[in-house]
Amino acid sequence: MGDYLPAMRSVDLPEGSMSAVDVNGTHILLAKIGGEVFAVSGTCTHEDADLGQGFILEGRVVCPLHLSQFDLRTGEAVTPPATDSLKRYRTRVDRDTIYVEV
Ligand code: FES
Repeated sequence: MGDYLPAMRSVDLPEGSMSAVDVNGTHILLAKIGGEVFAVSGTCTHEDADLGQGFILEGRVVCPLHLSQFDLRTGEAVTPPATDSLKRYRTRVDRDTIYVEV
């Protein structure tokens, strides 16, 4: 089990948005969906694309390079060419700060 480290201010992640952050050297993509904060790896499992440069679509992140889609709640690769899921991270919100377990 890792430590919960501060990732970003909660107010900077509005409902339906996503944001890529680096936490302790780990590139992570945060998203707020249905009032909950989810965290997955910020790097595509197909090649090394930065998912923070992609866009969010109905609870999925779309990779900017070859348009694979990943479910932001589960990390699951939903459409090819990516087949491997994104790693998921636990999150916690305390006051105005989002923490991620890394
Ligand atoms: S690098 Fe993301 S789908 Fe190819």
